[in-house]
Amino acid sequence: MLLYVPAGCLIDGDTFLSFLSVEILVRYRACFALWLAMSKTSERKTNTVSRDHSIAAHYSKGQLFETILAAARQAAADPMRLRQADLAPVDEFHIGGLVATERFIPQLGLQKEQRVLDVGSGIGGTARYVAAKYGCRVAGVDLTPEFCQVARDLAKEVGLSEQVEFHVGTALAMPFGDASFDAAFTLHVAMNIEDKGALYREIARVLKPGSCFAVYDVLAGPELGAEFLFPVPWSTQAETSFLVSIEAMRAMLTAAGFDIELVSDRRDFALEFFEALHEKASQGLPQLGMHLLMGEDFASKVGNMVENIRQHRCGPWELICRRK
Ligand SMILES: C[S@@+](CC[C@H](N)C(=O)[O-])C[C@H]1O[C@@H](n2cnc3c(N)ncnc32)[C@H](O)[C@@H]1O
Repeated sequence: MLLYVPAGCLIDGDTFLSFLSVEILVRYRACFALWLAMSKTSERKTNTVSRDHSIAAHYSKGQLFETILAAARQAAADPMRLRQADLAPVDEFHIGGLVATERFIPQLGLQKEQRVLDVGSGIGGTARYVAAKYGCRVAGVDLTPEFCQVARDLAKEVGLSEQVEFHVGTALAMPFGDASFDAAFTLHVAMNIEDKGALYREIARVLKPGSCFAVYDVLAGPELGAEFLFPVPWSTQAETSFLVSIEAMRAMLTAAGFDIELVSDRRDFALEFFEALHEKASQGLPQLGMHLLMGEDFASKVGNMVENIRQHRCGPWELICRRK
């Protein structure tokens, strides 16, 4: 096919179409770039949403409240009047459980009546511990709807409903105003979060200037690599596990507006804790324990994590920071 173009020259159809595409590209370059950027952003959002779903699915168990309640009643001194302390074997879902919490939380210097944030609150053990021990009002945010419901139901069970609240959602966009908390903490959560810069900026946003933010998380070790063993308690696959080094953590927290006051490597504590746990478990599993949160493959999750820690592929750290 032959065509006339306005300049009066004769060109064939293919050449005309090439001219046309170049013309469209040049004219609508800005629109095209905008469309490309928008589709990339929406693709990123879709990926994040589906990743969040798969993280929540990883932690969801079904019938968790009933299972915990039955086990707690069997183990408690007074089955019909459960106390917060009775839940400790199951509701502190991080390396060292209550022992780790009892060392970690005092570093925040909490005062009665303060408003405190628990980022990634799980089934609410640490939030209730802080409410019961310090008389604070604690808000938890967690991605897993079942964990939030169990956290509320357990709070009711031990008479702490007035002091704690649990919100379903991502820690990257929390439902709180700027500078609304006196302190914040997070235990074993950021391993599931890729954009840690955004996480720490969001936490800085909701904290009052001068307030304390404490992190207890599993970070990458010097030997992190392809041979990292899965499943681990926070993930069954590399796609939902994001470990960074202590140096990267320092840089991200500083950039988000925090001064870092104290850093502790908790590797030795972790290995001793698991050694003792292993000995205890050889006499049989307790009724109430973190295995209820991890499902049937809990032994390989814990075993792999311990081996990863032993091989310096990862390890738990504490960072105590202050909002500038
Ligand atoms: C290992 S559990 C720790 C729970 C609790 N901090 C504790 O120590 O008992 C990790 C928790 O992080 C939550 N989580 C993961 N990604 C999250 C996100 N983007 N926003 C909020 N919570 C998240 C999970 O739903 C899960 O409850």
